[in-house]
Amino acid sequence: MLEKFRFLTSGESHGKCLTAIIEGLPAGLNIDTNFINSELKRRQQGYGRGGRMAIEADTAEITSGVRFGKTIGSPVTLVICNKDYENWQKIMSINPEDTNDEKSFTAYRPGHADYAGSIKYNHKDLRNVLERSSARKTAIEVAVGAVAKLFLKHYNIECTSKILQIGNGKTEEEFHKEIDKAKEAGDTLGGKFEITYTNLPVGLGSYVHWDRGIDGKIAQAVMSIPAVKSVSIGDGEDAYKISGKDFHDEIYCENGNITRNTNHAGGIEGGMTNGEDLIVKAVMKPIPTLKTPLATVDSKNMAETTAHFERSDTCAVEACAVVAEARIACVLANEIMLKYPTDYIE
Ligand SMILES: Cc1cc2nc3c(=O)[nH]c(=O)nc-3n(C[C@H](O)[C@H](O)[C@H](O)COP(=O)(O)O)c2cc1C
Repeated sequence: MLEKFRFLTSGESHGKCLTAIIEGLPAGLNIDTNFINSELKRRQQGYGRGGRMAIEADTAEITSGVRFGKTIGSPVTLVICNKDYENWQKIMSINPEDTNDEKSFTAYRPGHADYAGSIKYNHKDLRNVLERSSARKTAIEVAVGAVAKLFLKHYNIECTSKILQIGNGKTEEEFHKEIDKAKEAGDTLGGKFEITYTNLPVGLGSYVHWDRGIDGKIAQAVMSIPAVKSVSIGDGEDAYKISGKDFHDEIYCENGNITRNTNHAGGIEGGMTNGEDLIVKAVMKPIPTLKTPLATVDSKNMAETTAHFERSDTCAVEACAVVAEARIACVLANEIMLKYPTDYIE
């Protein structure tokens, strides 16, 4: 789907490291590693997070494609080491002689990839599903997104995000109260967040084919974040409540420039950016790993039991918003590259 700004990632939650190779960046782009690491820090923070931040503050190492602080046109490789790997070396070993079941589990966790993943890949040990389906991989995606953001900054395109709701809470103080309440009850929460990108040129994306629309590309990028269950552009999710007269953003002209008084469309019309702010809203479901575990079945004997618990967040909506910023940055970087192809920037 990303034709120009392409990347692949690899790595397991408790494996040695997470890796990404990015291809398509022009030469001459300033790569600020402090910025990449500050984005990684943002992903690890937020009220309601579990213990991983205490174990390790993620930092990305660049192992190719950058020289003296600038891209050189070759693929850029990013690596984040899992410091916890020290304690998991035997459990995650690639050598057959190390085979052990120390951290194996066989009871499907509801709300996770365990059941479908074990059938799809024929895994008896659900650890094999957990390790890659875990949201740990979003760390390296945030690092890739940070590189995309550096590219977008070159075009003065900037991003902000905010949390709109967690449980029934609509203010920061209420978010914290809701999360505390859920934690005390051994429960978890999801929430709703909003991402805004400003200063986008008119005409990213296209109406000519269904798979060229930038709204569709953004929806796919955000919807596939673990635990995201709905994505909408602008006031899209409330559009059924409003009549056409009030929903559509009327067009005016000021000193020869197009202006609008509203932005219900969230910056996209006809699958293309229209020069207004891009606004994307998404909902994250409650974290599926609960301290008071959910009912399930053990795959080894089909007996009813309760789900496996492993260190887990109570609420990760703030982190999810950072991941969504990163995923959208990759889509936008790709669209800019399609519209303004160049091998180098100055
Ligand atoms: C940043 C982030 C952190 C997450 N942390 C946890 C967690 O600690 N425990 C958990 O059970 N799920 C967590 N999740 C959600 C699961 O990864 C997700 O629900 C699961 O992979 C199933 O994917 P699906 O909900 O999209 O079907 C997190 C998701 C994100 C985006």
